Amino acid sequence: MKAVILSAGMGTRFKSEKPKVLHTILGKPMLWYVLQTVKNSGVEDIGVVIGHRAEEVKKAVEDEMVSFYYQKNPKGGTADALISSADMWRSYEGYVLVINGDTPLVRSSTLKNMQRYISMVEEYERVKLSALVLTSFLPDPTGYGRVVKDGEGSVIKIVEEKEASFEEKKINEVNGGVYIFYAPHLLECVFCVKPSNSGELYLTDIFNLMYQKGYKTRTFMAEDPTEILGVNTRWDLAVAENVIRLRILQHWAEKGNTIHQPESVWIEPHVSLDGNVEIYPNVMLTGKTKIGKNCVIGKGSIIENSVIEDDVLIEPYSVIRKSKVMSKAHIGPFAHIRDESAVGEESHIGNFVEVKKSVIERDVKAKHLAYIGDAHIGNNTNIGAGVVFANFDGKKKHQTHVGSNAFVGSNSLLIAPLKVGDFAYIAGGSVVNKDVPDGDLAISRPSLKLLKGKGKEKLT
Ligand code: UD1
Ligand code: MG
Repeated sequence: MKAVILSAGMGTRFKSEKPKVLHTILGKPMLWYVLQTVKNSGVEDIGVVIGHRAEEVKKAVEDEMVSFYYQKNPKGGTADALISSADMWRSYEGYVLVINGDTPLVRSSTLKNMQRYISMVEEYERVKLSALVLTSFLPDPTGYGRVVKDGEGSVIKIVEEKEASFEEKKINEVNGGVYIFYAPHLLECVFCVKPSNSGELYLTDIFNLMYQKGYKTRTFMAEDPTEILGVNTRWDLAVAENVIRLRILQHWAEKGNTIHQPESVWIEPHVSLDGNVEIYPNVMLTGKTKIGKNCVIGKGSIIENSVIEDDVLIEPYSVIRKSKVMSKAHIGPFAHIRDESAVGEESHIGNFVEVKKSVIERDVKAKHLAYIGDAHIGNNTNIGAGVVFANFDGKKKHQTHVGSNAFVGSNSLLIAPLKVGDFAYIAGGSVVNKDVPDGDLAISRPSLKLLKGKGKEKLT
């Protein structure tokens, strides 16, 4: 079987400069979902028809091993789009799966079942089905092509909303925009499609042409009506995103992870959870994030392209981007870890601490209000409240190295480039602009004066 994905349209109802099929669902273009579904159904030879802003669409899926076909007139209609790919199936004796690029909810199991159905008809009825179309019964069929059938279940025609009569509009079996055609019969009929009132060539008109020729066509009902949603507007996109989001959450819940208030949780398709992870409301896990076993991800946390090892506790409203957190670490609440940072085992990065491009070894504590940038901090070191690593001199970023078992007192300023040794002790409030050797104590503070009775005098 070969497959063609139709993605050349203007997407006028989307009201967007960007091609409709490139609008994203959970961080991936809509077209990516259609492509994965087709691939997962076992079809390898895939063509994508592009037209409107073709190069952008091509770029989005160019690593996916597909061939591209250009539709010259992206207003030509769905039959014109399919004709543009004719070189792919013109002399092919088999079946071609044709799918609209705006149907991201179709499941690969449905496509597999459609393929199986075709083979069963060949095997038991000893005929070739000329066309099989995926349909569903919708309580409100508005906007979809209505499927008109005869008493034996063959499709007489598919009539588009704009052209349907009052009676036809009442039909609620609709066209899902997914078809399997027998290529020789497709070739015979698709070039006979006449322009509709709008001037477009409708792919759906093939069904009536086939019916007139006495070719056998059937409908295949989607197991779940949400599968056939065609994304034509921004609101359709929001609905589709919600369906895919809930499918992903259900998948992870079934694998043994707890998701509290799933209506608020966002997990993108390439994220993985190792099991027994507990996710609280409003969490976002994006990109290629990996979460180890038994982690807790607190409310409102965002984790992007990061690796979180086992048994990590992330308290509410923490943000981790492109970083690694080792096992048993404790992050947050309100921590920000970013730009290829690494937090070692059992370390604690707490309230309002920002860590940027830094390596923090094991058992380090930085629990409150610190900025740690371009630094390396050794095992078992304590970073007090309000410590700032001044890494930028106005022109360049510089590194700070703090050894192990060191103590950096509250509100100290470490001016990079700087080396602070093992067991070094920096007294609170110091401005450190010289290296501190192993074991030394550094203190820089104006001495404190006590003026007898002056306080009360000012306050009364
Ligand atoms: C189409 C079907 C309709 C069906 C619905 C299901 C036709 C005529 N109608 O309507 O029966 O119920 O899908 O979702 O097929 N495209 C091109 N070139 C074009 C026009 C469209 O490649 O010239 C592509 C679009 O990029 C899109 C797909 O074909 O991915 C479907 O086009 P769209 O305009 O969304 O068709 P619908 O009006 O939704
Ligand atoms: Mg559509």
